[in-house]
Amino acid sequence: MSDSKPVPGGNEVLVEFDEGIAWVYINRPDKRNAMSVGLAHEMNAVLDALEMDDRARVIVLSGKGDAFSAGMDLKDFFRATDDVSDIERHRAYRANRAWQWRTLMHYAKPTIAMVNGWCFGGAFTPLICCDLAITDEAATFGLSEINWGIIPGGVVSKALSTLMGDREALYYVMTGEKFDGRRAKELGLVNESVPAAKLRERTRELALVLAEKNPTVLRQARMAYKYARYMDWETSAEYLTAKADQTTFVDSEKGREKGMTQFLDEKTFKPGLGNYKRD
Ligand code: COA
Repeated sequence: MSDSKPVPGGNEVLVEFDEGIAWVYINRPDKRNAMSVGLAHEMNAVLDALEMDDRARVIVLSGKGDAFSAGMDLKDFFRATDDVSDIERHRAYRANRAWQWRTLMHYAKPTIAMVNGWCFGGAFTPLICCDLAITDEAATFGLSEINWGIIPGGVVSKALSTLMGDREALYYVMTGEKFDGRRAKELGLVNESVPAAKLRERTRELALVLAEKNPTVLRQARMAYKYARYMDWETSAEYLTAKADQTTFVDSEKGREKGMTQFLDEKTFKPGLGNYKRD
């Protein structure tokens, strides 16, 4: 039984399970959850473990204390990798990219970023690479890099360009001006901006909606969207048709067949008005 598995993390990453939701917290509150090399390695191990853990149907990524994350740790990531060997630096950067971008973007389970306070610089990457995001309306966001002599590097600039318009993205890249959660919603960085007192409750509500979906079809739908986005129309049509067939083939729950039977034969369900009945 997976319930007897140990809880992953426990140091710079904390995990709490709750009705199919794995709440994954960056746990460096004294450092405003700035992201270190150690955190990158631990987060990779945690996300890897949760992908195969039945206690986690949905992942919520957040930060302990009053920050989502104050970005890359200037000491324990940047300075720590300035004077090491080229190979060691490469490994640190690869570990960081792995969780912040590649893993989150292509994760087998749905992900929600819950922004509970400061969100700066490198923190935009995991924020954007989660499928959905909800923020405290009073949270503070900022691409502060320009104000202290670096560019929004890692993959921050690229990530911004997938969600924000060029004018808005360049405005914040070039000015370093801070903005709040309400503005983050206007910019399309998050799905919702809510008062701090409602943040956890609303995030939980959304996570539970996702936890009830057919997990195979949900995964296929997320991946189909993320890959089709970069294809031309002709290729997308071919890819999505093949992906739809693949989904039917790999879906052990047989959702397509059930939905059709319940609508066409049994007349017990209308796709436009609700969800088909899962076993
Ligand atoms: N890297 C390394 N350490 C950081 C950090 C970062 N990105 N952000 C915060 N910390 C550390 C501080 O150095 C301080 O450490 P100390 O207690 O050992 O002195 C601790 O976290 C608390 O930070 P502090 O600045 O005292 O908290 P605050 O509540 O007054 O301010 C912030 C919070 C987020 C406004 C401020 O910490 C900050 O500007 N951080 C950098 C944000 C940023 O520009 N990140 C982008 C990096 S690319």
